[in-house]
Amino acid sequence: MTTNIEPSRDFIKLPEMPADVFTAPLKKPAHLGDDWLEPEQARYDAQDDLIWNELFDRQMKVLPGRAATAFMNGLEKLDLGKGGVPEFGRLSEELGALTGWSVVPVPMLIPDHVFFWHLANRRFPAGNFIRTRETFDYIQEPDVFHDVFGHVPMLTDPVYADYMQEYGRAGWKAMRYNRLKALGALYWYTVEFGLMMEGADVRAYGAGILSGPTEVVYAVEAQSPNRIMLNVDRVMRTDYVISDLQPTYFVIESFEDLYRQTVERDFDRLYKSLPPGFTYANSAVIDVDNVINRGTQEYLLRGGRGSGAAPV
Ligand SMILES: [Fe+2]
Repeated sequence: MTTNIEPSRDFIKLPEMPADVFTAPLKKPAHLGDDWLEPEQARYDAQDDLIWNELFDRQMKVLPGRAATAFMNGLEKLDLGKGGVPEFGRLSEELGALTGWSVVPVPMLIPDHVFFWHLANRRFPAGNFIRTRETFDYIQEPDVFHDVFGHVPMLTDPVYADYMQEYGRAGWKAMRYNRLKALGALYWYTVEFGLMMEGADVRAYGAGILSGPTEVVYAVEAQSPNRIMLNVDRVMRTDYVISDLQPTYFVIESFEDLYRQTVERDFDRLYKSLPPGFTYANSAVIDVDNVINRGTQEYLLRGGRGSGAAPV
């Protein structure tokens, strides 16, 4: 099924979303406009700042040697460790000078088409709240720590910054072909859980990996998961888990490689050839895979999260 979405090329105005495109039903808070942006950033108190600082310090114990160099450089360029929840105005000024991106506050997860539209305009929507002591280790919805610490440093890399903008534009095309799940898998396996080669080493650049203490070590070093070179056709046919460590990670050569494999290809043809659902299980290794490590899947075989299995 195709629809008639024809967004203006520059995406200055939010394009109309046709009624026959399915997106998750999210109820917009009454005080927000169609852009879903909060009028201003939340005010954080000393307790909130302390939570940010503790989360930051915890990550810094595990990231060196495991996080991509571009990420570590981004943290430093934006001075995200200066103490407390970063102020989006300052952050946007500094990020704007580097790659033209800004960071804007949103109350919660926002509808796909609005999210794509912001990305297409080089605006990164970030949660306008921080987790509490009670949810320090695991939160359902992405908060400001996940969004700003995990995602924003990567936006200082010029090629990655372009990839993210193109992803936003690509979202509108995916809606036209009703292939949002497939494009979502690409986001999942790159922006959230992507690994990359740096010399002979594997490093993490995905925000879902970099914003928590356990998955950084697991993704880069554990024996359980598969590590497979990214192949866009394959990834867009692959299911993913949202509530546990990943059985498989996909690895890029470089951000130029990621850009070439995605932006510089004919997605119309790809969408026409994709089946509606996923073809491959998230732990599968298939014939066409260029495998770096075939995982033991021991962690999942022992029951994964909730079973107390060690992430080995
Ligand atoms: Fe995220």
